Amino acid sequence: MAEQEYDVLIIGSGAAGLTAALHLADHLKVAVLSKASLHSGSTFWAQGGVAAVLDEQDTVASHISDTMEAGAQLSRPDAVRFTVENGPSAIDWLIRQGVPFTRDEQGREAMPFHLTKEGGHSHRRIIHAADATGRAIEQSLLSQATAHSNITMLTHFLAVDLITRRKLRLEGNRCEGAYVLNLDSGHVEVFKARFVILATGGASKAYLYTSNPDGASGDGIAMAWRAGCRVANMEFNQFHPTCLYHPQAKSFLITEALRGEGAHLTLPDGERFMFRFDPRGELAPRDIVARAIDHEMKRLGLDHVNLDISHREPEFIREHFPTVYERCLSFGIDMTSQPIPVVPAAHYTCGGIMTDTRGATDIGCLYAVGETAFTGLHGANRLASNSLLECIVYARACAQDILTMNDNRPASAGAPAWDESQVTDSDEHVIISHNWDELRRFMWDYVGIVRTTKRLQRAQHRIDLLQQEIAEYYSNFKITRDLIELRNLALVAELIIRSAMLRKESRGLHYTLDYPELSAEIRDTVLAPKHYPWPRS
Ligand code: FAD
Ligand code: SIN
Repeated sequence: MAEQEYDVLIIGSGAAGLTAALHLADHLKVAVLSKASLHSGSTFWAQGGVAAVLDEQDTVASHISDTMEAGAQLSRPDAVRFTVENGPSAIDWLIRQGVPFTRDEQGREAMPFHLTKEGGHSHRRIIHAADATGRAIEQSLLSQATAHSNITMLTHFLAVDLITRRKLRLEGNRCEGAYVLNLDSGHVEVFKARFVILATGGASKAYLYTSNPDGASGDGIAMAWRAGCRVANMEFNQFHPTCLYHPQAKSFLITEALRGEGAHLTLPDGERFMFRFDPRGELAPRDIVARAIDHEMKRLGLDHVNLDISHREPEFIREHFPTVYERCLSFGIDMTSQPIPVVPAAHYTCGGIMTDTRGATDIGCLYAVGETAFTGLHGANRLASNSLLECIVYARACAQDILTMNDNRPASAGAPAWDESQVTDSDEHVIISHNWDELRRFMWDYVGIVRTTKRLQRAQHRIDLLQQEIAEYYSNFKITRDLIELRNLALVAELIIRSAMLRKESRGLHYTLDYPELSAEIRDTVLAPKHYPWPRS
């Protein structure tokens, strides 16, 4: 069986993983894994931009206050301050990597880039590359990373589980590497590493309708939990208010920057309904807008509502939103003259693996950065465009910590080969695809935008049954990508449901009819795996 050894193993090639790799590679030998192509994560699809205090009229205090307000006061003040204060230097670094942010024709020398606005922001502070910011960031970072001689990029390598000293029955609980399925050969390989960084993205594929690409199955959260890490605030799944509603448009987002530039949300009779729900109208934070749309759709029995920017100049629309314009046009919708049909869809996992400001987890030499991590920044609801910012800021801090720790890292332990002697090839793939569908449907119906205790109990019951079936399947058959992702998604769904049941209030993205009020007590929902805490080493 193949065995590979690196100083740092980074699982994930999105904004978080690549940023960490580029900050480590001048000193250490790094491998970056992606289970699909290098740009298959959410980063590539990000549209709106990156939030940071870049305009001289804007202030750190204002960005902090907007983040706390959107997060329903649950965000951790230290994490918010750390992120916001490090925002401008993170953007400066991205510019130095060659990210082609959109320039402002009237821009001053101090701020030559165009800044747009999104819901919940009290200033224009979103730097962007037209409406394809993620693609611009991913391509720039990838071209730097693939050119670096110390970075090995590996595609179609799916991390299955972490190798820890506890699993090896050695003292302490440090991470020693990972078991990784080579999807081309079908064999599981041992990757030994002095440090492992999980940068695996979110888990929005737990829901039937999502803006996320197919790989968003929460693998990092599931691997970290099985290895012994705590997770927090898993009940806060963000639903983006505006995804394109069209039978052939699989998960296409209509960026919030459209509302930032004046788009109206309307009902079929043309009514602009958002002001009935919030004085900020279309620019209220996402949880409020998504809930309002859900309410109106259920009240009137609608398939969708409309997003209308046709009152703006066609030239402005085509210049600022070329990707959305082209995509809508490909479905016969000309957004310069007609409204876009939209619905909410699962978009972002606010909770995740608990980390500190260095990205360090509960397990020694194991880090988590990006959407898979819980840093405390987002609280009960993420402020628009704070995610890419968090990816860059925390990945940089994580790399810095690894460089500091490197000299004191003891030698790695060896790991046994993956044992396949007891399993056979599966002949019942239908079970996996059926379970995928079932899970995503009941999560949408019972653990979605509006929850009740009864619905959560139903979901809990279903997930228990599913997990039993999956465990049996896992122990009898050879692993495949679908099986691994389903197993991870089922575990993450269980963590979401458990967290939602523990929160006896409605706050931010967690809205339950049984506890509609905000509780006076402000607390995170922290889940700890069996036998936690482990002695760190
Ligand atoms: P990702 O970019 O999702 O990358 C995950 C990586 O992990 C991939 O390479 C994947 O292949 C790999 N991976 C996962 N599991 C495994 C495994 N088991 N083994 C090996 N590899 C694995 N945020 C903003 O701030 N601004 C925006 O404008 C914005 N727009 C968005 C638009 C869309 C449509 C979406 C979906 C999200 C948007 N977000 C936005 C959110 C933001 O894009 C993501 O939160 C962020 O890009 C996550 O980056 P990441 O590096 O953590 O993970
Ligand atoms: C968008 O462009 O609307 C997405 C922004 C985000 O998710 O932060």
